Amino acid sequence: MSLNRTLTDEERLARLDLDQLRQLVGLVEYDDSADPFPVSGWDALVWVAGNALQTAHFLQSALGMELVAYTGPETGNRDHHGYVLRSGAARFVVTGAYSPSSELADHHRRHGDGVRDVALTVPDVDRCVAHARAQGATVLEEPHDLSDEHGTVRLAAIATYGETRHTLVDRSRYTGSYLPGYVARTSSHVKRPGAPRRLFQAVDHVVGNVELGAMDTWVGFYNRVMGFTNMAEFIGDDIATDYSALMSKVVANGNHRVKFPLNEPAVGTKRSQIDEYLEYHGGPGVQHVALATDDIVGAVDAMVAEGVEFLPTPDSYYEDPELRARIGEVRVPVAELQRRGILVDRDEDGYLLQIFTRPTGDRPTVFFELIERHGSLGFGKGNFKALFEAIEREQERRGNS
Ligand SMILES: [Fe+2]
Repeated sequence: MSLNRTLTDEERLARLDLDQLRQLVGLVEYDDSADPFPVSGWDALVWVAGNALQTAHFLQSALGMELVAYTGPETGNRDHHGYVLRSGAARFVVTGAYSPSSELADHHRRHGDGVRDVALTVPDVDRCVAHARAQGATVLEEPHDLSDEHGTVRLAAIATYGETRHTLVDRSRYTGSYLPGYVARTSSHVKRPGAPRRLFQAVDHVVGNVELGAMDTWVGFYNRVMGFTNMAEFIGDDIATDYSALMSKVVANGNHRVKFPLNEPAVGTKRSQIDEYLEYHGGPGVQHVALATDDIVGAVDAMVAEGVEFLPTPDSYYEDPELRARIGEVRVPVAELQRRGILVDRDEDGYLLQIFTRPTGDRPTVFFELIERHGSLGFGKGNFKALFEAIEREQERRGNS
């Protein structure tokens, strides 16, 4: 069986089909029979939060996610709370220390709110771990089973950049709401009248920030250990601004569901935004999570109504005749994009619409992107300069330039 023509359980549950996924996240056909580390897709993004209860509320009210499962002292978990939230095929798990001696409390002190674990669905956990070990990866958790009355999940974990990990999950023999130890729970949060049913359908990509000189090491890690291939490359001048620059390369799994851009700071006359991230996060980590939507205008409006702040885009961006000519015809009138600060990029395959939130925690670290793809499999290369100039203005306001 080849995985490429198969929907994940999460996608099936979300009533997505292959055509929609080709458009939403750039899913491609892929024969994984010779892949030593086949990855089917995202399992979950597992967050650590200083207040998981309130972060779970934010994800429901501001991002329109739905609560589906819970762990905590009432279910026998004396260490932490965990809230599992869904939007389409996307699953977020927000964890926060309950016990002062929880390891999560230390993790949060070091890194603040952020993504600790980019968990991936794999058809064969043991095979992946054997290959990863042979390629020199650090195995954090050996393959093991977790079971309850809903069946058995097989799990393992390997280390990636900073203190980020990839838990590898095979839940094909499990019917429970998330993992043993979690119980099903539904939202008490009620959406506003007229709010979209959901604001995004899937995770598109997760970006990692790493130290100067480490980007190629991690690209090599994903190539060698996980069989990911290089998708696109942005180096130096492409995304340099007058003051600071970064370098970025993108790796993807075989079917392109999982895409990891990796950024490193480049030397500029001012401190790079990546340096600021590394300082406040306490080393490498997840910079942003891009959420695939089929209605970016509706999603932005709903999020703004709930108080989410997006990075502003200068009017000059929309008024630039060169840019107008390059963009060509897009689904949404440019005036509507301008009103919301939504960016447009076009390449030989099509175009995409995208917008970035401000950091969503206390530290100037992790943030969200909304992305609406129309054929383009890019990441907004043409917008990097416009975007980074906007980020740098924010950095200046925080006094970290
Ligand atoms: Fe992105």
